[in-house]
Order: sequence, then C-alpha cells, then structure tokens
Amino acid sequence: MNAETLVQLLYLVSTGLFIMSLRWMSDPETARKGVFSGVAAMALAVAGTLAGVFAIGGTHYWWILAAFAVGAGVGYPLAQVPLTAVPQRTALSHAFGGLAAGLVGSAKYFLYFGQKNEAALSPFIVIALVAEILLGFLTFTGSLLAAGKLQEVKWIPQRPVTYPMQNVSNLGLFLLALGLGVALVLNPLAAWAPYAFLLVILLSLAFGVLLIIPIGGADMPTVISILNSYAGLSAVAMGFVLNNKLLIIAGALDGSSGLILSIIMCKAMNRSFANVLFGAFGQAQQSAAAGEQKSYKADTPESAAQVLAQANLVVIVPGYGMAVAQAQHKVRELYDLLKKRGVTVKFAIHPVAGRMPGHMNVLLAEAEIPYDDLVEMDEINGDMPQADVALIIGANDVVNPAARADKGSPIYGMPIIDADKARTVYAIKRSKNPGFAGIDNELYFLDKTFMLFGDAKAVVGELAKALSGEGMH
Ligand code: TAP
Repeated sequence: MNAETLVQLLYLVSTGLFIMSLRWMSDPETARKGVFSGVAAMALAVAGTLAGVFAIGGTHYWWILAAFAVGAGVGYPLAQVPLTAVPQRTALSHAFGGLAAGLVGSAKYFLYFGQKNEAALSPFIVIALVAEILLGFLTFTGSLLAAGKLQEVKWIPQRPVTYPMQNVSNLGLFLLALGLGVALVLNPLAAWAPYAFLLVILLSLAFGVLLIIPIGGADMPTVISILNSYAGLSAVAMGFVLNNKLLIIAGALDGSSGLILSIIMCKAMNRSFANVLFGAFGQAQQSAAAGEQKSYKADTPESAAQVLAQANLVVIVPGYGMAVAQAQHKVRELYDLLKKRGVTVKFAIHPVAGRMPGHMNVLLAEAEIPYDDLVEMDEINGDMPQADVALIIGANDVVNPAARADKGSPIYGMPIIDADKARTVYAIKRSKNPGFAGIDNELYFLDKTFMLFGDAKAVVGELAKALSGEGMH
C-alpha cells in the first residue's frame, strides 16, 4: 500500500468514527462510546496527517512536536474544569479552532502571494480563503467574549450592550468585509491585495466582538452553539484550501450539528434565532422583580421527609442548583430510600435545565440513576396532576408558570415542567433570588408550595437522613 492510500484509508475510518460518535452521543446509554469513538477518530486524523507529512519527506518535525506539547499543555488543564464550566470551556475550544483556521488561511494566502502563484490563487480557492478567515477570526474573538461572559469576568459586561443603529452598522461592516473579499477574488495578486486581506482580518476580529456584545449572558450557551457552527464552516473552507477531505467532512459535521443544537435550544426556550442574535434578551427584566412583598412558606427537611414517605408518586425536578451543589449523589441516596419504601420516583428532565444541553442527564447518569426513571418534559407533564409531590432541586425558570400565563414575562411561551400541577410542591434553593432569567417565580408563593432553604446537597442529605432515621413510618 502506498503512503497516499494509507492516508486516505486512515481518513476514511476516522470519518466513519466521527459520524458514529455523533450518533452514539445522542443517547445517554451510548454516549460514553460516542466520546471514545470521537477521540479515536481525532487520533486517526492526526496519525493520517502525520503519515502524509512523512510521505512527502517533511522536515520540520520539531515544530510538529512543539505544537503537540503546546496543545497538550493547554488541553490538559482545560479538561479538568467542573461540569458547570463546560460551556465556557467549549467556547475556548471554538476560539482556538477559529484562530487556527484563520491563521492557516492567512499563511496560505501570503505564501501564494509571495510566490506570485496565480494558479494556486484561483477564484475558488480565494473564495474559500476569504470565508475561512472571516469565519475563523470572528469565531475567535466572538468565542473569547462569550467564554468571558459565561465565566462572569468582571470587566466584561453581562448585560447586553446596545446602541442606536447597531444592527445597521454591523451590517455595514459585514458588507465592507464582503466587498473587500470580492475585490480579492478578482485581483488576488494586486499590489494592494495583502492590505485588503489584512483589513478583512481586522474587520472579522472586530465583527466577532460586535456580534456578541448585544447578546446577554442568558443566551450565551445558544450563541456558543452557533459559534461552534461557524468554527465548523471555517474548517470546511480550510479543507477546500488544503484539499483535505477529512477536514471538509469533519467541519461539515461540526457546522451542521452546532446549528441543529442551537435550533433545539431556541425551541426549548421558545425563542427565535433572530431573537437570540438581535433581541438583547435580559435587558428589561429588573422591573419585574420589584413589586409587593409576597411571602414564602418555609418548611423543615424532617417534615418534608414525612410527606415524601407517604407519597405514591414523587417527581423530582432537577435544575442548575443541583449542578452547582453537586448534589446528584445525595439525590441518588434519596431516590434509593424512597424506592425502598415503595414510592414511585421519576425525574422530570427539561431540555434546557442547567446550563448546557443534557446537563441533568449527565449528572444523574454519573450518580447511576436508571435511565428509565429520567422522563422528558413532554412525557412527564401528563403525569404531574397525579404526582403527590413535586420536589424541585435547584430549578427555577424551568418550572416558572409565568412562562404559560404571563404574556409580559421574558420567558413567556417557553415550555415548562408543570410542577405547579402536583398536589404538593417542595422547592430546594438557598435564597429568594431569581434564576437565570432574573425573574420572580409565582410557584414559590402558591399555597401548596413549601420552601426548603439551603444548599441542595445539604438539604437533600438531610431529607435522606430523616427518611432513613428511626421514627419514620
Ligand atoms: P435557574 O433558573 O438558573 O435556577 C437555578 C436555581 O438554583 C436558582 O434560582 C438558585 O437559587 C438555585 N441554586 C443555585 N445554587 C444552588 C445551590 N448550591 N443549592 C440550591 N439551589 C441553588 O435554573 P434552571 O431552572 O435549571 O433553568 C435553566 C435556565 O438556564 C433557563 O432560564 C434556561 O433558559 C437557561 N439556559 C439553559 C441552557 C441549557 S442548554 N441548559 C441554555 C441557555 C439558557 P438560589 O440562588 O436562591 O439558591
């Protein structure tokens, strides 16, 4: 087998594994396999590329080794972040992906320009180069800013930054970059062309920032998924420039899955794509919180445990607070104790509970709660009126009835878990603070609702202790 065939064979197997990886990751039961096959696919892709370099008698091996060392040095600590920080960690990966595509595209252009290589700078390749640097560099700055917003970096404003004529001026800049791109396609070797190229790079870097500043922190996970899609598309363009089929396929998978995920997230929040990108969500929500002082009823874990023990059906609604508190193992203990008493326990999984898609599934799977007891929102809502207790653990927006009834609410229209239809509601949270959307939740003021104030891990631990204690019937 000659070297070229070996490279193409490695790429083919890698492509198959990338596709299977996405397939497997769409189900919690096969997700682990999906991760391993993704890793294997990437390892084969790197091996294939190295084989190609050896075959053409490449020389700069030290540079390749240095790149490996830098990549591992950055990647290792990134892999250690807690699960709640995964969205911003992912944004950083996109930033690096975009930067790599942008730099490769720039290097290729200046190389061909220096060689006055007219054949290499065909209109098709220059279109791909312009697309690559536009998408690559805007993904770079946009993703860095999105990661900073999610990490709540102090000097980056969380609130949307808006000013008059924002969309019009952004569009103007985009058209300017596009115009320069067209000029480059027509005259890639003109004396002014490298300056036009540099200007497109600067405009793309600025564009990434301008696209993200009007979007509030609340929409960042969706935006990150859109940036994922841009990074994938810039990889596709890079694949055309480098004539690398694997890059084209992997980039297309990345681009389309990012887009599909953003659409799923928008649907789950009942927001349109345009609304996320241009809607400045999270701006005018403060006034909603100020109103008459209503009172909550607080209860103790001991008395809540009595009610739980008497129930036939308990529906647990986990949310972001369970993730912050890392309460999933205590939740598992509670689940076991209730099951032992013959109580039916189900988990109601909202598609955007937590801060990333599948957040609750991952945590509950980590605590080895059987998948059969994790029930999707649409399915569990039919059972909510039969539930004796809805036990809310650190969830807020995803159980807010304002989404159903209050037309003025920023979350109006978002599908929710109908926790308010259960006979009794217990809600665990630390304070009276609102959730992600920054709005009050009527559910907590209902007659049937009792608050269990405290850290989710501690409170669930106390519930479990009370349930396993003597004197419980
Ligand atoms: P949230 O509405 O953010 O509510 C979480 C609640 O958990 C807070 O009210 C907080 O109240 C409580 N909490 C925080 N730390 C806690 C701890 N250690 N112990 C106990 N409670 C704690 O969460 P949710 O209901 O899961 O809704 C998710 C929100 O994120 C939605 O608005 C959704 O649209 C948005 N979002 C999600 C995604 C994805 S993909 N998941 C993407 C974009 C947007 P206290 O401070 O009083 O404790």
